[in-house]
Amino acid sequence: MVDAPVGIPESLVTTLQNARGIAVLTGSGISAESGVPTFRDAQTGLWARYEPQELATPEAFARDPRLVWEWYAWRRELVEQAVPNPGHRALAVLENRVPGVVLITQNVDGLHRRAGSQNVTELHGNITRSKCSVEEVVVEPREDDTDVPPSCPNCGAFLRPDVVWFGEALPVREFEEALEAARDCDLFFSIGTSGLVQPAASLALDALRNGAVIAEINSNQTPLSPYAEYLLRGRAGEVLPALMETAFGRDLGGHGG
Ligand code: APR
Repeated sequence: MVDAPVGIPESLVTTLQNARGIAVLTGSGISAESGVPTFRDAQTGLWARYEPQELATPEAFARDPRLVWEWYAWRRELVEQAVPNPGHRALAVLENRVPGVVLITQNVDGLHRRAGSQNVTELHGNITRSKCSVEEVVVEPREDDTDVPPSCPNCGAFLRPDVVWFGEALPVREFEEALEAARDCDLFFSIGTSGLVQPAASLALDALRNGAVIAEINSNQTPLSPYAEYLLRGRAGEVLPALMETAFGRDLGGHGG
């Protein structure tokens, strides 16, 4: 195991340059530098008294749909004001430089796509989309619907955020894509995730069981750290650009080639 608190290990650069298949799993830590609070950061302002885990559940929505809708409206506002940071952009460069990179994210903020990544698998949905709480189809409220939550234009049921709540199943297609990527890769990056929430947290071990090398980029230790060949301790917004620049050179904005 190579613990590189600052530098980028040469052997990781070589592995990255020669990888046959790369899978990347990101968590809220990669969006922290864009000003989007991580899931386990203390909540601020009027939401300080709530635990995310209390609000992001079907039970909370059934009990108080208005409260849950307003919490997501607050988070959606945060996300829409956020901009992708150098960590997100470095992963978009990686996708341009290495064919077949699969980016799997637990984040619901849409920042990877806004940074230019195209092959993004959103395991936990996307906070900027709404869906009918009964029909489960993605639909936006009517323009003139000022109710909180708004109603489904098709059936009149409450709309809800198109995200996966605690206790809910992950979208089948997205999880199958993620499993396939984890099992097919020879290099698996775990970036900015505490590795506490299943089944996303099991993907790295699936990759390991299939012979992949694990590289973890995180400002702290996580339950995955003991299994990682490379531990890059630091902020994703600094480590990822340094890694991509070392591996692919400075013209990071370049496309393809
Ligand atoms: N750079 C790298 N890592 C960071 C940074 C940063 N700038 N800031 C924080 N981190 C790390 C923290 O050390 C922590 O390990 O990011 C991780 C964030 O962990 P969580 O807040 O638990 O977020 P996440 O792992 O994405 O949670 C997974 O759980 O709560 C559910 O559905 C929710 O998708 C979420 C899932």
